[in-house]
Amino acid sequence: MRIDIITVLPEMIEGTINTSILKRAQDKGLVTFELHNLRDYTLDKHKRVDDYPYGGEAGMVLQIEPIDRVITNLKSQRNYDEVIFTTPDGEQFVQSTANEISLLNNIIILCGHYKGVDYRVREHLITREISIGDFVLTGGELAAAIIADAVVRLIPGAIGDEQSALSDSFQDNLLAPPVYTRPADYKGWKVPEVLLSGHERKIQEWRHEQAEKRTKHLRPDLSK
Ligand code: ADE
Repeated sequence: MRIDIITVLPEMIEGTINTSILKRAQDKGLVTFELHNLRDYTLDKHKRVDDYPYGGEAGMVLQIEPIDRVITNLKSQRNYDEVIFTTPDGEQFVQSTANEISLLNNIIILCGHYKGVDYRVREHLITREISIGDFVLTGGELAAAIIADAVVRLIPGAIGDEQSALSDSFQDNLLAPPVYTRPADYKGWKVPEVLLSGHERKIQEWRHEQAEKRTKHLRPDLSK
């Protein structure tokens, strides 16, 4: 999979993609990231990529020209399955969105910024608009990093044990059951007996019960 990210703040994303599992996935050739600094695509001699909004509202708006230039350039080199825009008024990013995107070959993520982007970008260049939640960030970079993280870990081979991606919270609309590790008794706080029993069927039953119980208690909306 190839993920091209267009941003005015590449350094906000570099740390995420060059650390831990995302780094390893790149080293294994499972994913390629390309960060594009929007300022490299403007013809403006001061490298400005934003301007005042028509109609005189407060705040600056990202201009369409450099965005169109970078997207057109990328599209001339390969086909893209989606051109995603990160914005608080997009569709809500959930696990099934990550699953869908992880099956694609090439995607572009354009990070929103400032007051917004010239709406013609959204009308003509973007195929999917995604929000990571009902709150407003300073820009779309952290949202892009979150999308990249959630998507890449689903690519087979990205995390050591493929099974563990399938048993994540939310994959079957259930929160994950509790997990424990050694010591079995810490200051008298004990690991549930069943997990030490070696009885595989009982352990699976217990995990499922716990998942249902936690979901009902913490996220009743998921069981509907
Ligand atoms: N940009 C600013 N806030 C955002 C959000 N909640 N999701 C995606 N992009 C954003």
